[in-house]
Amino acid sequence: VSASILLINPKYPHNVGATVRAASSFGADEVWFTGDRVSLTGGRKTARLPREERMRAYRDVDLRHVDPHVRWSSWAVKDNLTPVAVELTPTAEQLPDFEHPENALYVFGPEDGGLDRVTKMQCHRHVLIPTRHCLNLGAAVNVVLYDRLVKARETGEIEIKPSYEVLDEDRRLLDELGLV
Ligand SMILES: C[S@@+](CC[C@H](N)C(=O)[O-])C[C@H]1O[C@@H](n2cnc3c(N)ncnc32)[C@H](O)[C@@H]1O
Repeated sequence: VSASILLINPKYPHNVGATVRAASSFGADEVWFTGDRVSLTGGRKTARLPREERMRAYRDVDLRHVDPHVRWSSWAVKDNLTPVAVELTPTAEQLPDFEHPENALYVFGPEDGGLDRVTKMQCHRHVLIPTRHCLNLGAAVNVVLYDRLVKARETGEIEIKPSYEVLDEDRRLLDELGLV
């Protein structure tokens, strides 16, 4: 059982950073992103990830830039991942009713446009979060991963740790980062 995230051509590094943080927090293994607007190393015309998200705290997440020539959908299928388009699409399933695939690749669109038609066609499932307005990209990632967590608990796939253990782990991480 695994969750991975693909961001299509994200515009803002802070949203890639927020996604990595969400992935680490909720136990998703991988964050892939396409496009040339954000880079891991910085460079001309690209924006580097915020310092916090480059820190070793999130080393449990495999963050990868995906070459535009790589066909991510065949890659996903080879890895046995079901691509799920997360987008405000009229025919999409609603998140509260959504049964998450065992091994999911959640695909999100850019802040300034949303998912293109071809990407949507490459996805096997489509889900929308019934909000009054479109959410910030990083927020949308958090909502989907939280929904997955709650449902995995309901079906007995995972157990949620007692609160004191959750706090201990958080404190250990802050300690490691020198933030306390
Ligand atoms: C800020 S939104 C894109 C902008 C939006 N399509 C527009 O032009 O108004 C960035 C991405 O977040 C995700 N997203 C945000 N709110 C969502 C919602 N309510 N349901 C599903 N996806 C959402 C989608 O993947 C979307 O492509």
